[in-house]
Amino acid sequence: METIKLNELYPYEKLEPSETEKLFEINKITKTRVDSKKTNIREHYGIEQSFVLYNVAKKYKCKNMVEIGTGRGTGSYSVSLLDHVKRVDTFDIIEHTKKVPMAVNFKSFYGSNKDLYNMIKYDEKSKINFKHINELNSVYLKNNENKFDMAFIDGNHTNYNIIMNDFKNCLKLTNDEGIIVFDDYGNFPVVTRVVNDIMEKYSDFKYIMVPFRGHYFKEWSKGEEEEGSGEVLCFKKKEIFSNNL
Ligand SMILES: C[S@@+](CC[C@H](N)C(=O)[O-])C[C@H]1O[C@@H](n2cnc3c(N)ncnc32)[C@H](O)[C@@H]1O
Repeated sequence: METIKLNELYPYEKLEPSETEKLFEINKITKTRVDSKKTNIREHYGIEQSFVLYNVAKKYKCKNMVEIGTGRGTGSYSVSLLDHVKRVDTFDIIEHTKKVPMAVNFKSFYGSNKDLYNMIKYDEKSKINFKHINELNSVYLKNNENKFDMAFIDGNHTNYNIIMNDFKNCLKLTNDEGIIVFDDYGNFPVVTRVVNDIMEKYSDFKYIMVPFRGHYFKEWSKGEEEEGSGEVLCFKKKEIFSNNL
């Protein structure tokens, strides 16, 4: 599989300060872990993931995204910021209103995804539909077949059948020119195995790996620039990738 660096996918300098400021703010609320030594969001190794998703949606002018594995909503909030993105559907196994221990801006916080939603100050958040994974049923699949330009698979990381099923659902939900993004290729063995099997079976698609951790903000984060792992972008139509190099 071909690898391209995050800065080749989308140079950091090409992003407007207003765009990066919003992505930092979203990460500040939704991505940190408790850490009394850190104050600047750029110190959080891995916040580049939201930049990968934002850059893919921006570069390929996606109008919508479906995500499996909302987490605290970082990816969904990030992509929703784009004007041309009109709708984001995101699914998680944890209820939107369930309170759990988490962190906001490196400090301990006990709350729900709904509480985080209320802290996000960007109106674009209203484009996001937060759903429970049980709602991703045959009715949803039928009503939304071919509807999405982009899908992000970031739910279960250890069960082969669940991850493969997430892919099959995303295959149905995305259109012929759709882009399916997998998180954690190379650092989660089962995810890696699923993606390898998909690459073998669906060999007409184009696959690109984008290592991202430690790439944009290496002067801030102590982590190394990761290699051999990261996001895998699956282009259902090869030309969508090659025409936009
Ligand atoms: C790594 S987090 C997702 C991070 C998120 N995509 C982001 O942008 O920050 C993984 C999430 O997947 C959820 N999850 C685990 N198993 C799942 C499943 N079978 N279906 C949907 N979500 C699942 C977890 O509850 C967790 O919130």
